Amino acid sequence: MKRADFSLYDFVPAHLPELVDLWVESWRATMPAIDFEGRRAWFVDHLSALQSNGAQIVCAFDVASGAMAGFVTVDGKDGHVDQLTVRPAFWGAGAAEVLLREAKRRSPQHIQLEVNQGNLRAVRFYEKQGLFRDGESVNPRSGLKTWRYRWRAPLRS
Ligand SMILES: CC(C)(COP(=O)(O)OP(=O)(O)OC[C@H]1O[C@@H](n2cnc3c(N)ncnc32)[C@H](O)[C@@H]1OP(=O)(O)O)[C@@H](O)C(=O)NCCC(=O)NCCS
Repeated sequence: MKRADFSLYDFVPAHLPELVDLWVESWRATMPAIDFEGRRAWFVDHLSALQSNGAQIVCAFDVASGAMAGFVTVDGKDGHVDQLTVRPAFWGAGAAEVLLREAKRRSPQHIQLEVNQGNLRAVRFYEKQGLFRDGESVNPRSGLKTWRYRWRAPLRS
């Protein structure tokens, strides 16, 4: 898709239905073998737990259509990004970059996250955005191998 313009808003409960639909659609397109539809309830609880632990949720809306294009969660305490998800219709349109830039603004020193090793699109995206790989792990839910990625703010001289 060609580049589009996005507006950012902090998550409010009225966003939840569109956000969960977006999450299911995006992950189904990424990992078709996994039943993300069946994980809706888990995801709603997970999002709520992230918020209770202090994570901020930011949603990007396509200016032209008003549709939610994606969202990111970021914990300002440790820079952990648990979720960065963009609706497939907006892949390649710049929403992910806008959201990651906002996560960096809200956690200005560092960002840390994990990504499935087989998720080549996301790996390419994070490397393009200046994150570096600094370890590997295993997702406890799926058993899939993950890479750990980090970003640190450039040192000022
Ligand atoms: C990961 C995600 C947020 C990135 O957003 P996006 O809009 O797709 O990202 P971009 O298009 O800017 O960048 C993706 C890059 O991967 C490239 N790419 C696509 N498929 C690829 C593949 N199979 N192998 C390698 N690179 C690939 C694209 O060409 C693009 O690189 P380019 O700009 O140099 O051409 C989005 O794809 C998404 O929501 N995916 C599902 C959820 C997810 O995986 N979240 C991250 C979990 S940690």
